[in-house]
This record gives sequence, structure tokens and C-alpha cells, in this order.
Amino acid sequence: MENILSLKNIVKIYQNGVIANKDVSIDIEKHTIHAIVGENGAGKSTLMKIIFGEEVPQEGEIYYKGKKVNIKNSLDAIKMGIGMVHQQLMLAPDLTVAENLILGIEPLRYGVFLDLKKIIELTEEASKKFGFKVPLNKKISNLSIGIRQRVEILKVLMRNAELIILDEPTSILTPQETEVLFKSLKDLKNHGKTIIFISHKLKEVKLIADKVTVMRDGRAISTNDVNRLDEHMIAHMMVGRKINFKRIPGVKKVGCPLFTVKNLNYLSEENIFVLKNINFEVRAGEILGVAGVEGNGQTELVEVLTGLREATSGKIFIGKENISGFSPRKIREEMVAHIPEDRMKNGVAEHATIEENIIVDRYHKAHFSNKSMFLDWKYISKSSNDLIEKFKILTPSSKAALLSLSGGNIQKVVVARELSSNPQVIIAAQPTRGIDVSSEELIHNLLKDARDNGIATFLVSADLDEVLKLSTRIIVIYNGEIVARFDDIKNITQQDLSPYMLGIKKKGD
Ligand SMILES: Nc1ncnc2c1ncn2[C@@H]1O[C@H](COP(=O)(O)OP(=O)(O)OP(=O)(O)O)[C@@H](O)[C@H]1O
Ligand SMILES: [Mg+2]
Repeated sequence: MENILSLKNIVKIYQNGVIANKDVSIDIEKHTIHAIVGENGAGKSTLMKIIFGEEVPQEGEIYYKGKKVNIKNSLDAIKMGIGMVHQQLMLAPDLTVAENLILGIEPLRYGVFLDLKKIIELTEEASKKFGFKVPLNKKISNLSIGIRQRVEILKVLMRNAELIILDEPTSILTPQETEVLFKSLKDLKNHGKTIIFISHKLKEVKLIADKVTVMRDGRAISTNDVNRLDEHMIAHMMVGRKINFKRIPGVKKVGCPLFTVKNLNYLSEENIFVLKNINFEVRAGEILGVAGVEGNGQTELVEVLTGLREATSGKIFIGKENISGFSPRKIREEMVAHIPEDRMKNGVAEHATIEENIIVDRYHKAHFSNKSMFLDWKYISKSSNDLIEKFKILTPSSKAALLSLSGGNIQKVVVARELSSNPQVIIAAQPTRGIDVSSEELIHNLLKDARDNGIATFLVSADLDEVLKLSTRIIVIYNGEIVARFDDIKNITQQDLSPYMLGIKKKGD
């Protein structure tokens, strides 16, 4: 088969001396879906940015359709027929969904004015064609990260690129949405397109890809036909050991309610009830999992629970204390940890260092400041380095800027900070988004330890495998309502949850 793209001996060294790609050679065959997998920081995104003209390699050659090319910037790449969905979403926050979709390919009236009617027509057509429902008239900044991910994918699909790079497009899609995407990708392949697909979900790689390249520590160590491998073999090649994908053993001891929500309602700016009469409690030693398709109120629920939005009515208790209306800072002081779904918006200060990001919620506490009220940087460095080691955060130093870390490693900084904050309640939204199988296993074990130590955890995840693996009990949310509760989940499968998540079935409360 002919190659659409050949990378030969690519070397990329960042300014800070990190060698992200070491002599990487990969051939991408035309009309295939080619997966690239590897641990956080293995160099996948860097390589993709090189293909898309956003990073320049120090050494190596790129051949596109048989010709040696010099891709100087992303405009060059787009002109050549290359499209890319980035791991960190790149949409313009102040524009609407339709405007973002059309950016750069705007239809004009009389050659000058934006043809708004045409814009809506075109975007509606694309949204139908590719099966991605998106609210065309809403501003990006008002949307959850899952919906933004849909928009970003749609945007690239609409541009009719020949080679489509998808850097973790499914990290926050539910299985149902992923299925829709995969159908489109297969159609595109059948229409002659080529796709490079990055994912930490090896099940997806098995399902969709023809070839898989494993990257490790900056090198491409092997490329194989996917049908010759299974998930466990791919995981083993990535991390060099066996990974446990099994559900964690059930709870032994459950205590008193630590986190209780009563009759919670939330009316949105558009006057729509996004949350309707939500009731649940999470006891000490339990993990309550929330299953639901993105956009059914999960984002708003977590924001209300963590003080980022105010409920329209209803009450929230930590233990016996009513915390309704508390600010995020006051809620944290009640020993509530929060892993936010959008790490870049609510989780981190991207230009600050790892250390600064770790101490941001605790600088006022005793041992982080010394007697003279100054920050005790020695202690801060030591505790940051302990977390870097425990969570295997890949960085040259605890003083490195957060922005220089790979996506998964940024997520690890947030999780490390939250899990080490000595919480009694953990509110975890998409806790392992973008995290590799090895670190996912570690975080799952830590959430289990937290559970066994009597912490109450409220877990929201688009990844149903994760919800099923960790939860003690599960609630399903659809259209802002809890439509089903599963108290014994031992024999529950994705197929059992699906009809509730899609609103086809509803359990009488
Ligand atoms: N702008 C940058 N400056 C300095 N180092 C960087 C920069 N971007 C990435 N790196 C480093 O390069 C290495 C590879 O990062 P890259 O983002 O390519 O990894 P990845 O395989 O995509 O990981 P993930 O699965 O977490 O997304 C990492 O060690 C990372 O810290
Ligand atoms: Mg990456």
C-alpha cells in the first residue's frame, strides 16, 4: 500500500532540553486508521504538532504523498489537506458554535458580508451528516468540555481534510458518542481519507484502528496490525508490565452520610431547568458514580456542588452542615476536594510552576508558611517532589511551568493536589481524562484507598468502564433528572445503563 505520510528520523528537543521525539520513523498508509499510543509524555502530541506545522523538529524528514515537504506552520498543513483536533481544545471562547465551525471557511454574501443564513445552513447540515448534535447558537465559553470536544471534531470533519489527526478526541465522550464518531471515521476511511488516532482507551484502538504504533520515552518502538494484538498486549508494550482492568472489590464498611443533596434545582440563564429535583447521599466509604451522556446536567451539577454556581433551590450538606450558598473556597475548607472536568479552566494556573499549582489551595495552612508568615519554599519543594514521584509526573523539575507538561501530566498535577488535600469528600469529574493506563490504575487504586479510609466520593465520568470499575452505587442522569439508581452493581453492565442514559427507559423512584 502507498503511504500518505512518512516520518523519517524525527528529533524534537524543546527549549528546556526535554527530548520529546527521538529518531522517530513512522509510515502512515493511505486509507487506514492508524492509532498512536503511549504513556503520558511519550511524545505523541509533539509528533502530531510537527506534522501539523506547529512545532519544528531539529532533525528528520517528512514525506507527504511521496514528496519531501517542509511544513512551516499550520496554514501550510491545512493547504496540503491535513486537519487536526488538538488535545487541548482550541476553539474561540467568545464566538458561537456556528461561528467557530465556519471560521476560515466563511461563506460570504456579495463577496464581503458574512452570510449568516448560509452559516447556519451549512453547520446544521454538517451536524446532521456526522451525527454530532451541537447547540449552534451558543457561545463556546458557556459549554461543557464534552460538547466543546464535539464541536472541535465536527470542525475538522467539515473541512474535508485528507489526513485527519485526532489527538485524544474521545477522552471525554461517552461510549454512545464515541460510537457515532467511529461510524463517521469509518465512513471517511471508506471515502479515501486517512486518520491518525490517539487514545489512551485501548478498547477503542482495537475497535477502530487498522495499525497501531507504540511510543515509549520519545521513540516509536513498534508498529503492528491491530488484529494481531489485544488490549492487554498493547498495554504491556506501552508500559512494560501487566495492567489490571478489573473492577475493584466491593466495600466492606459503609458509614454515615457525609455528602447529602436534597431537592436540588438549577434554572439556567436561558430559563431552563437544567437540574430537576436532585436527591442523593454519599456515605463514608462509598463511591457514588454518575452515568450519563454529556450535556445532561452533569457539568452544572458539579459546579453547583462545588460552589461555582448557585442552586436555584435545594440544600447541600457536608455531614450535618448545610453548605448551600458557600463559596468554592469555603467549601474547600469543609475538606471537600474537587477534580474539575476542565483542568485548564478551573484546575490550574497554566503559566505558574508545578509547585505553585500544588500549593495554591493550601498556602495559608500552617506548615506551608513558616513562623514569620513567609511561604516555606523548602517544605513546598519537598512535598511537591514527593507528589511528582508518587504520581510519576514527567517533568525536569517541580519548578517547571505547568504549560510545558504533556496533557496527561497536567491532569496528574491536579489529581495529586486534590487527593493529597486530606479531604473527607471528593468530587471527581472525569478524574482520569487523558491519563495513560498505568497512571489510571494508580489513581483508581488511590480512589479505592480513599474509599476504604472512609472518604465519600462523588464520581462523574464519561468513561462508563471507569464508573463501573470504581462505584459502590450508580445513579443515571438524563435531561437534568436522576432517572435510575443502581444500589447493587455487581452484575450491571454498560448495556444495562445505556437505555437510561439515552432516555429510553426510566425507573420509578
Ligand atoms: N512546550 C513544551 N516545552 C517543554 N517541554 C514540552 C513542551 N511540550 C511538551 N513537552 C515535553 O515533551 C514531552 C512529550 O510531551 P507530549 O505532549 O508530546 O506527550 P504525549 O505523549 O502527548 O503525552 P499525553 O498522553 O500526556 O498527552 C514531555 O516530557 C513534555 O513534558
Ligand atoms: Mg498528548
